[in-house]
Amino acid sequence: MNYSIIPEPMEMHTGTEDVFALTRLCNIKVGRGCEKAAACLKKFLRDSFSLEVFGSGKESIILKTDSNMKKAESYTLIVKENEVEIIGSDEAGIFYGVQSLRQLLFQGDLTLPEVYINDSPRFSYRGFMLDCGRYFFTKEAVFVFLEMMALHKLNTFHWHLSDDQGFRAQIMSKLLLTEIGSYRSHTNFNKRKHEGYYTVEDMKEIVEYAHNLCIKVIPEIDTPGHTVAMLAAYPELSCFDRDLTVATHWGIKYDVLCVGKESTYEFMKEIFDELLETFTDGIFHLGGDEVPTERWKLCPHCQKRIKAQGLKDESELHTYYLDRIASYLKSKGVKTVMWNDKVKDYMVSEDIAWQLWNDEMSKTDVVGEINSGRPFIMANSSAYYLDLPYAVTPLKKTYDFEPLYDGIKEENKHLVRGVETCLWTEFVPTMQKANYCTYPRLGAFCETAWSAKENKNYDKFIKKLPSYMNLLEGYGIDSATVRQAEPGIIRKTGNLIWWERRKFCWAGLSNVIDNAYVRKTYGKKEN
Ligand code: ACM
Ligand code: ZN
Repeated sequence: MNYSIIPEPMEMHTGTEDVFALTRLCNIKVGRGCEKAAACLKKFLRDSFSLEVFGSGKESIILKTDSNMKKAESYTLIVKENEVEIIGSDEAGIFYGVQSLRQLLFQGDLTLPEVYINDSPRFSYRGFMLDCGRYFFTKEAVFVFLEMMALHKLNTFHWHLSDDQGFRAQIMSKLLLTEIGSYRSHTNFNKRKHEGYYTVEDMKEIVEYAHNLCIKVIPEIDTPGHTVAMLAAYPELSCFDRDLTVATHWGIKYDVLCVGKESTYEFMKEIFDELLETFTDGIFHLGGDEVPTERWKLCPHCQKRIKAQGLKDESELHTYYLDRIASYLKSKGVKTVMWNDKVKDYMVSEDIAWQLWNDEMSKTDVVGEINSGRPFIMANSSAYYLDLPYAVTPLKKTYDFEPLYDGIKEENKHLVRGVETCLWTEFVPTMQKANYCTYPRLGAFCETAWSAKENKNYDKFIKKLPSYMNLLEGYGIDSATVRQAEPGIIRKTGNLIWWERRKFCWAGLSNVIDNAYVRKTYGKKEN
């Protein structure tokens, strides 16, 4: 029997003879700070083996922490005659030891040989993003994603809660955001309406669920672009107080927040004040991506703001907005992350961590920014966007991606806080599709997030997949097969045709027509 773990541990040895068999008499000894790990282990035994453990027999599982272990989130796992001992550096370390134990117990059907594992993570930030703006995923579905994140030793849930096509976070002082903004009448060219949002209670429950799995939650209210659902609820947030409906087509929209009006800043502060009560991990994502400046060019409020602040142009207005929001959050003790979008034509404050996603920033610019002290999270779309078809991003491309670019100075490598993989959901309306896109990619991704670079090996990873997929199946998750994830020429061509077809939706002819109307109506008056 070959035992294996995903992500690959730093050091792992297994014997050949079985020395430990877990029965209902097993005694689980839980040290201080190990309660979350113990709860997770017991739930696993219940869910996967219908086993309630009593604790009067001779075999035991000992969970304890040792503050002498200096590396955060690290653990050792030792299996010997009738005993499993996991020692963690901290609460998270012991929790990850249990995640490895889950995989071993599953493979051995509760029986184990001698095992020695010594393990710790490569990156401190190991993220997964779920886009709930395009499609709403139920609270229970979010729980499943969180469970899977924990199994993959990921520790940061980036929750994309708003987009043009839906605003999903209930804000008590601004109920129209969800009463109007969470519903759309149809989706692209179909007739299906779509709706759903998380109540404050739901969000609190999800945050608590995540914390019990040693996962931090970073909420994202994407502004100033991607805000049509907000504008539909509160037209005064837009330039020209436009009467809009929640977006029904994908694509980048020209209507964005009016960042000229002072009332917009007040509105956003009030949203964040409420969210701060729910999201307590001290990091917020500001969005900041894909912001056309067409409306700002015509809007008297925006133009007045540019003059009053001595800004060069609309691009600097974008920076001004993000800096103001970030400094407000900073005054509340909150760090901010935003998408990188462009580098040279606007520069937000140095203390904003950038989440790299597109190729608009050259590697040289990225390295330059890192070497000048800016923290980064690497979420390179070409490797880590889970919605891209396997024809565009086959499994090996995800596996092989190296986030520490050449040229980053040794003393600055820590500024690459880590990596994140993103599930955008324009084309992911169901859990079945979500699972197909996400697995086994999440397995490939987590070997970069967690495992030492020198321990990565694609052939070995592929050999580990059958037992990994069996484990997922136990959670009702149908992963893509290796043949699907590494498509041959015929499958690849079909995949690419399907993917290219999406541009038909993205083009959003209505955007073009609407923009001509706005220019005609508002442009002339101002010029
Ligand atoms: C993004 O994919 N627009 C961040
Ligand atoms: Zn404006």
